[in-house]
Amino acid sequence: MTFDRSIKIAPSILSADFANFGEEIRAIEGQGADWVHVDVMDGHFVPNLTFGPPAVKAFRPHVTTVMDVHLMIAPVDPFIEAYAEAGADILTAHLEAGPHIHRTLQAIRAAGMKAGVALNPGTPAEAVGHLLDLVDLICVMTVNPGFGGQRFIDMTAKIRRLRAMIGDRPIHIEIDGGVDPTTAPLVVGAGADVLVAGSAVFRGGSVKNASVYGENIRAIRTAAHALGSAA
Ligand code: DX5
Ligand code: ZN
Repeated sequence: MTFDRSIKIAPSILSADFANFGEEIRAIEGQGADWVHVDVMDGHFVPNLTFGPPAVKAFRPHVTTVMDVHLMIAPVDPFIEAYAEAGADILTAHLEAGPHIHRTLQAIRAAGMKAGVALNPGTPAEAVGHLLDLVDLICVMTVNPGFGGQRFIDMTAKIRRLRAMIGDRPIHIEIDGGVDPTTAPLVVGAGADVLVAGSAVFRGGSVKNASVYGENIRAIRTAAHALGSAA
């Protein structure tokens, strides 16, 4: 994975057909997805349950781009090796998931993955000030994590602050929650480069009607570029 700040669309397979992940992943990649975003939830850190390491491992052969795994679990550390073995390219842990995020990020890199840190809406940008040399990605949650299809919470000021703090470091700013063609320009204008989108990508489409995924991805990308370049 080489680093660049071009806009990347990362569909969340939380909004895919849960009985058909292989085909769903091929469909979104065939329709222009840059990364595949995998939301791991534990029914404890967030009030919903999704995929364990065996499921993520089963997704791996279908992903030809980047498998971006977002852990919404606590604790994180006992599971890092399992997600490395499952084939995650990027493993993101929540800053709020435990008392030792610094150790967690070190362990993720030591296991051979890119390390991400995610911030809930209530967590300030400054919380990552001492972590910047340990992370490859900062995920700014624009919903309270746990479910797809929630209303976007404006975190523009936080994104701008993070962008300034990052400076020239090769760190992605990823936005997760309520991203669609209306909200994408706001976050890209503030400095984001990776846009996770679940409902806005899968809405109206299916593996049999995958061109809708393509239209949805292009609509987000076009909107993001339009205002992103004006900002
Ligand atoms: C929320 C997840 C998101 C979610 C985004 O807890 O981390 O990735 O699937 O879904 P939308 O785009 O529908 O808000
Ligand atoms: Zn996510």
